[in-house]
Amino acid sequence: MSNNSIKPDRNLAMEMVRVTEAAAISAARYMGTGDKEAGDQAAVDAMRAVLDTVDIRGTVVIGEGEKDEAPMLYNGEQVGSGQGAEVDVAVDPVEGTNLLALGRPNSIAVMAMAEKGSMWNPGDSFYMNKLVVDRRAKDVIDITQSPTANLQAIARALERKVQDLTVFMLDKPRHRELMAEIRAAGARITLHTDGDVMGALMAAIPGTGVDVLMGIGGTPEGVISAVAVKALGGGMQGMRAPQLPEEIARLKENNVDLSEVLTLDKLINAEDGFFAATGITEGSFLEGVHFDRTQGVTTHSIVARALTGSVRYIKGIHQLKRPMDFANRDQVDKLGLENI
Ligand code: FBP
Repeated sequence: MSNNSIKPDRNLAMEMVRVTEAAAISAARYMGTGDKEAGDQAAVDAMRAVLDTVDIRGTVVIGEGEKDEAPMLYNGEQVGSGQGAEVDVAVDPVEGTNLLALGRPNSIAVMAMAEKGSMWNPGDSFYMNKLVVDRRAKDVIDITQSPTANLQAIARALERKVQDLTVFMLDKPRHRELMAEIRAAGARITLHTDGDVMGALMAAIPGTGVDVLMGIGGTPEGVISAVAVKALGGGMQGMRAPQLPEEIARLKENNVDLSEVLTLDKLINAEDGFFAATGITEGSFLEGVHFDRTQGVTTHSIVARALTGSVRYIKGIHQLKRPMDFANRDQVDKLGLENI
């Protein structure tokens, strides 16, 4: 890639997977400790350190929050080696911090990138309603219609019955009505306390056991999911669904149109996009990090690129020279990350 290139001209996802692997390995040490902040911090430190070895001129669009609350990977931070393509960067070093802290399945380290200026900035919107399906049903979904109507349309597109569909949703009180409607429509439900990026991934890939993601989750996670869904060729629509009093007030104050449909192209306005995710705790779709003193540390990742439609499942076996403790910032520089 030339130093002057504006658009990414190679598969950055292949570089990104080193970043998500480092975050996952580092975070995995905190599985079941009950300390979600420490697990997240370890992943942030590792992600930030390895990200700087990637040849990009990146701007964090979806990060750990505003600069005053996040010392690293904050929104607006410049990341990468400072050489190469200019890109928007979205990170979630631990997607499912509670899952990790409690040792529950499906916490992952995730990252997305796309051409500079192409990622939707959620601004004051913290929550959105999401609907995700795989490529066969991408043209039939309409988030303005009822869940029942969508399930019927999806079932037709998949040549199945509604009863044969499995819907991934977060187990939240706000979903009481949605859950009742899905049950009445006859579809099966898989409930998860956290982690709807995993739900979006599974819904976008045929044969994972999840056919549809429905319900309200984080907006930043929605943007990351959108890059994944685009790269995987699936379909996604969203709609702002403010939950917090200050969020509701701010959107109202700014006359934000809550009925606007956030299409995949709105969420990620680029033909190309890169996505990488590495399992931290065990999951049915991505295995977690396995530590073994003789074999090495094993990671399981998925990487995908929108332009080419390439999807790769990468099993990494890492021979780490020293014990990983990215959580200690002083050690990061001394660690020698060359083996990741
Ligand atoms: P964290 O990793 O930041 O804890 O997010 C987990 C998550 O479950 C996301 O997958 C989801 O989009 C969001 O939180 C839902 O938020 P809430 O738990 O506030 O409903």
